[in-house]
Amino acid sequence: MLIKKLFSVAAGALLACSIVSAEESDVISLTKDTFKTIVDPEKLILVEFFAPWCGHCKALAPEYEKAATSLKSENIKLAKVDCTAESDLCAEQDVKGYPTLKVFKNGNVSEYNGGRKAELIISYMKKQSLPAITDVNVENFDTFKDSDDKVVVGFFTENDQKEYNTFSEISEILRDDFIFGATGQKEVINKAEVKPPSIVLYKKFDEGKDVLEGTFTKDELIDFIRKNSIPLLAEIGPENYASYVDSGLPLAFIFYDNDEQRTNLGKEIESVAKEYKGQVNFVYIDANKFGQHAENINLKQTWPAFGISKPDENLKYPFNQSKEITTEAIKEFVDNFIKGEIPPSIKSEPIPEKNDDPVFVLVADNFEEVVYNDTTKDVLVEFYAPWCGHCKKLAPTYEKLGEAYKNVRDKILIAKMDGTENDIPPKVPFKVSGFPTIKLFKAGNKEIVDYQGDRTYESFIEFLNKNAHNKVDLDSSAPDSTPSKEPAPAATEKDDKHDEL
Ligand SMILES: *[C@@H]1O[C@H](CO)[C@@H](O)[C@H](O)[C@H]1NC(C)=O
Ligand SMILES: *[C@@H]1O[C@H](CO)[C@@H](O)[C@H](O)[C@H]1NC(C)=O
Ligand SMILES: *[C@@H]1O[C@H](CO)[C@@H](O)[C@H](O)[C@H]1NC(C)=O
Repeated sequence: MLIKKLFSVAAGALLACSIVSAEESDVISLTKDTFKTIVDPEKLILVEFFAPWCGHCKALAPEYEKAATSLKSENIKLAKVDCTAESDLCAEQDVKGYPTLKVFKNGNVSEYNGGRKAELIISYMKKQSLPAITDVNVENFDTFKDSDDKVVVGFFTENDQKEYNTFSEISEILRDDFIFGATGQKEVINKAEVKPPSIVLYKKFDEGKDVLEGTFTKDELIDFIRKNSIPLLAEIGPENYASYVDSGLPLAFIFYDNDEQRTNLGKEIESVAKEYKGQVNFVYIDANKFGQHAENINLKQTWPAFGISKPDENLKYPFNQSKEITTEAIKEFVDNFIKGEIPPSIKSEPIPEKNDDPVFVLVADNFEEVVYNDTTKDVLVEFYAPWCGHCKKLAPTYEKLGEAYKNVRDKILIAKMDGTENDIPPKVPFKVSGFPTIKLFKAGNKEIVDYQGDRTYESFIEFLNKNAHNKVDLDSSAPDSTPSKEPAPAATEKDDKHDEL
């Protein structure tokens, strides 16, 4: 009885919903027959290719609808194609996943690089509708600088041709992310209270604007725009992580567990964030969603937590988790970090007491000594992860290889390191982005050679015979070497679970 009632209510609600959207939708439905006639004449139109069963498409639908309604006044249209009904059209448009969004300008297509929330769609499409640089004059100045979260305006005189050209070039590069305008009008320059050449970043957060006065290079301009367009303290997530990395600054993470904690941490840390603005970016990170990320900064998953990372160099500086997060403590920590007085944290398993298995066990704490400081040895290193299937498959072969070189390990050492329990020491000039990663550190100059061969015993021997500095020359077809019939695929595995940002 109750179930039936619930069901009828739900069905009723669904019906009501679909009637409303069919009647009132501002999103145009396209078919193979109407696609060209509708899309080609539009100066700017966004098309979503979707499938009714796709979860991300369902999540996008209300946002897309909202954006379509809002963009009507700008004469920017939004359309959609149901690929389950229009499979030919979707194949023709090279749709490979759902949803796929594409921007068409007079029939010319480009990728949509914006977000999936209504306001992000709106702001992206507005930007697409403008020439990269808008002419700013005394009439449109106020509306223009308020037209988005972040608006860049250049103020020039006729003597500033060089600066204008640089500005113009950068506006093309950054047009997906910012709105650009320029003016030479005296009245506007006076109103803005700047001295040309000047670039002003108007923003709807923090101090409202930043000014770059005088001449500048391309790099200085990009730097100015990128650094200042990052809010003092904002939430980080997959959608904006890249912009933080692009800024090139260290990133200070404030892990919080609930809203109250977030507010309290903000009170403690805001003044520090202000003080180090332009040197360190501070962000909130929701521990309920991205708690795993703490491990990347060598923090335990207990909240709240604070830590700094240098994403470019993969260096991490966790704040001692048994200490309280206070303004004073964080200020001192960040200050010492800036002065270079805090060494990066290197996660390591303990150095094994006995290390006489065929495959030598490297950990972060013995890596430098064994791999670099002892220049008499060639060291073959496999970076592996316990969960990685290709690594498990390789293990017996690698073990056998270790066995084969055991008596000459003073010349060639076969070694492995668990890349999930040990940080790759900063001295190592590459990042390990998949497992297994296998490299030879040559005796003498410690030149590094990638192992790219198939993962058979024979191939490893051939590789070492050819590349090792020390000549040992084992026979790859030694009697006890049972050739493995099936060469392991040379693929590496990525740790998707841990790559949440
Ligand atoms: C694409 O762009 C070019 C140059 O802007 C324009 O001439 C052309 O009409 C556009 N449309 C198509 C369908 O190529
Ligand atoms: C962290 O702080 C606690 C308490 O102040 C202290 O006992 C401990 O030694 C510190 N740990 C590190 C690694 O500095
Ligand atoms: C390795 O050598 C460097 C430079 O000679 C030295 O500073 C460092 O302490 C050595 N490391 C180890 C673990 O022996």
